[in-house]
Amino acid sequence: MSLKIREHEFLELTRELLDSDQVRMMGRWKHHGPVTTLDHSLFVAYNSYRVARFLRLDAHAAARGGLLHDLYLYDSKDKSAHPGNQCFDHPRFAARNAAKLTTLSPKERNIILSHMWPLGGALPRSLEAWLVDLVDTICAGLEISRIYRPSRLRERLGVRPLPAVY
Ligand SMILES: [Fe+2]
Ligand SMILES: [Fe+2]
Repeated sequence: MSLKIREHEFLELTRELLDSDQVRMMGRWKHHGPVTTLDHSLFVAYNSYRVARFLRLDAHAAARGGLLHDLYLYDSKDKSAHPGNQCFDHPRFAARNAAKLTTLSPKERNIILSHMWPLGGALPRSLEAWLVDLVDTICAGLEISRIYRPSRLRERLGVRPLPAVY
């Protein structure tokens, strides 16, 4: 399968989400160093989709769950935005926002809630949830170590963050 066809299929699977203000709004906040939450989420979603497809798993749930896994929609450094520990809190906020945005399957909801396991949250209950958990960890490592800049992927896919409002 060529890169163009693969990227096109990924965009088709996630079109409803990528066109939403909520997902594009993730571009307003930094997640790992200079990497925005939108760029990180796209990086995780696209690679989860690719591996799921290769392994003949549910690529639809992996792509959507991956894209929504960090949809917490606040500045993680702003202590007034969330009550407790960001590591434990943010999957619950993301699941709540995702459920307002789209109809989540039970598998997609569990992908979001379990993506921080074993540091917190729910236990992954599907191969796709285990996959997104692992891909998230690898992508975070590549971002923090500056080995890969995921804004390149976002630009290639033609996803535009929502402009900030001041
Ligand atoms: Fe996360
Ligand atoms: Fe993440």
